[in-house]
Amino acid sequence: MKITKAIIAAFVLTSELSIATPTLNSLARSISRVESIREIKDVQKQFAQLAQFGRFNDMASLFTNNGTLKWGNQTAAGPSAIEHWLRNDAGNMNGIGRGSLNTIVVETPLVSLSVDGRRAKGRWNGLRFMGDGAGKTRIEGGIYENEFVFKDGRWKISLLHYHALYRGDNYTDGWRNVGGSIPIIPYHFMPESAGVPVPEPVEEAEETKATVEELAHRITRLNDEDEVRNLQHAYGFYVDRRMWTDVIDLFSANGTFSSGFGSTHGEAGIREELERQGSEGLKKGVLNDRLIFDTIVQVDPNGREAITRGFEIGMIGDAMIQTASWEFRVFRNHFIKENGLWKFRALEYSQTLVADYKVGWGYGGISSHALIPPAFINITMRSSQKLGPDGTSTNVTDLQRRLRRSAAFDGVENVSAAYGYYADDLQCKPLGVIHATNGHKLTPFTGFYHGPQRITKACEGNYGQNRTAPRSAVSFHWRPQSVVQVSEDGRSANLRARLLQPSTSKDKAGSFNGAIYHDHCTTIDEFYWQSSSWAGGWAVVTPTNKTSNNSESDLAKKFPPDLSLKEAGDRESTFIDSENVVQLQEPSKWTPAGVLLAWMYTVSSKTRLEARGEWVSGTA
Ligand SMILES: *[C@@H]1O[C@H](CO)[C@@H](O)[C@H](O)[C@H]1NC(C)=O
Ligand SMILES: *[C@@H]1O[C@H](CO)[C@@H](O)[C@H](O)[C@H]1NC(C)=O
Ligand SMILES: *[C@@H]1O[C@H](CO)[C@@H](O)[C@H](O)[C@H]1NC(C)=O
Ligand SMILES: *[C@@H]1O[C@H](CO)[C@@H](O)[C@H](O)[C@H]1NC(C)=O
Ligand SMILES: *[C@@H]1O[C@H](CO)[C@@H](O)[C@H](O)[C@H]1NC(C)=O
Ligand SMILES: *[C@@H]1O[C@H](CO)[C@@H](O)[C@H](O)[C@H]1NC(C)=O
Ligand SMILES: *[C@@H]1O[C@H](CO)[C@@H](O)[C@H](O)[C@H]1NC(C)=O
Ligand SMILES: *[C@@H]1O[C@H](CO)[C@@H](O)[C@H](O)[C@H]1NC(C)=O
Ligand SMILES: *[C@@H]1O[C@H](CO)[C@@H](O)[C@H](O)[C@H]1NC(C)=O
Ligand SMILES: *[C@@H]1O[C@H](CO)[C@@H](O)[C@H](O)[C@H]1NC(C)=O
Repeated sequence: MKITKAIIAAFVLTSELSIATPTLNSLARSISRVESIREIKDVQKQFAQLAQFGRFNDMASLFTNNGTLKWGNQTAAGPSAIEHWLRNDAGNMNGIGRGSLNTIVVETPLVSLSVDGRRAKGRWNGLRFMGDGAGKTRIEGGIYENEFVFKDGRWKISLLHYHALYRGDNYTDGWRNVGGSIPIIPYHFMPESAGVPVPEPVEEAEETKATVEELAHRITRLNDEDEVRNLQHAYGFYVDRRMWTDVIDLFSANGTFSSGFGSTHGEAGIREELERQGSEGLKKGVLNDRLIFDTIVQVDPNGREAITRGFEIGMIGDAMIQTASWEFRVFRNHFIKENGLWKFRALEYSQTLVADYKVGWGYGGISSHALIPPAFINITMRSSQKLGPDGTSTNVTDLQRRLRRSAAFDGVENVSAAYGYYADDLQCKPLGVIHATNGHKLTPFTGFYHGPQRITKACEGNYGQNRTAPRSAVSFHWRPQSVVQVSEDGRSANLRARLLQPSTSKDKAGSFNGAIYHDHCTTIDEFYWQSSSWAGGWAVVTPTNKTSNNSESDLAKKFPPDLSLKEAGDRESTFIDSENVVQLQEPSKWTPAGVLLAWMYTVSSKTRLEARGEWVSGTA
């Protein structure tokens, strides 16, 4: 089999969609459901964004009147008790005082709506970075399984259940498992339904008062939201590799860029500002990963402007001179739609804290300032904003197609998250089941396996069956910062996401690794970087020379792949482009940890994310 055949659309809609023309009532209901999924995700992101500035009262108001917060082994019920608990728990690590830090990251959502569309459950990965500016720190990691209800016209949290899995109370020592071995946190979903965009309702749709033009406008807004989110996330992937020319392409002609210390505009000005991070392209040993988390998008009712708000955690360093640092920033960016294409109009960063890796953020870092928070996005406006008519289409069948494209965005994020959660827990059966009949998955160091059964078998070949027992060590598979390219008919899509891999164990400090998933099938460039240890972080790595790895993995001998890595030969590796890109290559020998790898497999075909945020595959 040729690789060109193996690369098929990553995500396909397998269920048969009803071909009957929807009624206005059923279209209105479907729109509300897709909007609901977005709103629920926004509530959770808002929880994180508010925490960063110690807005405990506002965080508590995201809960229902009898809502409950369970944080590890502690419980608080009702908004005032929740506020009190949050405030107490943070102490001076509340994000309010100068040098203090309270960054909660909530990512990889898997949201499931109830059949009646009025309740929901959601799973997220969580990380929390805390410091009081006077030396005290805390790092927490775990999984949320939360519940939501639709009340008084908005979505609220009825249960926030954070399962504490790892934690460290002293930066120097990193983190370790909470309570010995790590159990599987029960999933609220089944693999078969992980990609079901919205459950099939059972009742007749309610009578809608909306006109077809108003419904068209709401769908346009959802489609716009997808494009803006893709643009924001794609921006981050370009920044990682210091592809400044591509970053500048994302701006409107007289766009502005504010770093938090100064503001500049126009192409030359933005380039100058970007080059403060370093000149175009990465040099050997340089890591410039700036991870984007918890992006909320608000599209203006006029359909021509939009705002994103979220935060960025920079993992920056130069392994050649063994430097590494953390950079925490908040962004609040403005977008404009020019000739049908969304562009950055103003990019605005507010710096939270910059800290040397070795020292950590506990003492407030080398550069921090007490911030006035950049304005939060009002997440209740989505349903309350009055929208005018949209003249673009009144063809209900076509509106349904356009809505399906936005539903697909969440469906893909859902499956992508499910992949990560099942991989964390080595659940080989469901890991196979979430692949299409014709789907492929790359098993690292071995090759591609075709179809759910073989994907499961390959996984079991590596990890065994029935992995239900608590484990002493886990490597998590976060897949944040999705860029999802949905086909015009809304039936297939490609995804690019990060792999952020925090690891944890019983008796040794965990650390971070990073890579990129660019899923046509489930494919990964593994790894882009690996921390040598918590203590060394991404500063202490062993740069190595390129050698080819012709040794067969044990799995390949036991259970040969449908397409081995050798047969696949050079394959696309996303952003590799020129000698400017990191040139650290495959190591001539493996050390157990501590190798900074660049592209594991060299490239002949180039895949580039064009300025529009569209994926274009190059020719092989
Ligand atoms: C909260 O109140 C609603 C009705 O107001 C009730 O249905 C629900 O069971 C209550 N939840 C809890 C956790 O008490
Ligand atoms: C609750 O969790 C904390 C943090 O993991 C731990 O230190 C404490 O011992 C736990 N308390 C109980 C009663 O289990
Ligand atoms: C953290 O632990 C290190 C050694 O493990 C110790 O030297 C240091 O004082 C501790 N810091 C704090 C703030 O407790
Ligand atoms: C996500 O998966 C859950 C569980 O399978 C499913 O109920 C829900 O409808 C899905 N949501 C989306 C947006 O795909
Ligand atoms: C470009 O933007 C800057 C800053 O917003 C503004 O001062 C300047 O007048 C603009 N120039 C043009 C030609 O629009
Ligand atoms: C958000 O918008 C709603 C409806 O427009 C408004 O009632 C509410 O006061 C706003 N909230 C904030 C915090 O501005
Ligand atoms: C309505 O849209 C559908 C789907 O895009 C298309 O096939 C059909 O021709 C359109 N009907 C009219 C009357 O334009
Ligand atoms: C899986 O292993 C557990 C013990 O770890 C055992 O109780 C259970 O029966 C096993 N399930 C299957 C399907 O083999
Ligand atoms: C890489 O190759 C160069 C040239 O062959 C050699 O000088 C250098 O020592 C090698 N580095 C490592 C880390 O093996
Ligand atoms: C080479 O392949 C072997 C067997 O699959 C694997 O264990 C090893 O990590 C690989 N090394 C490199 C440099 O890819």
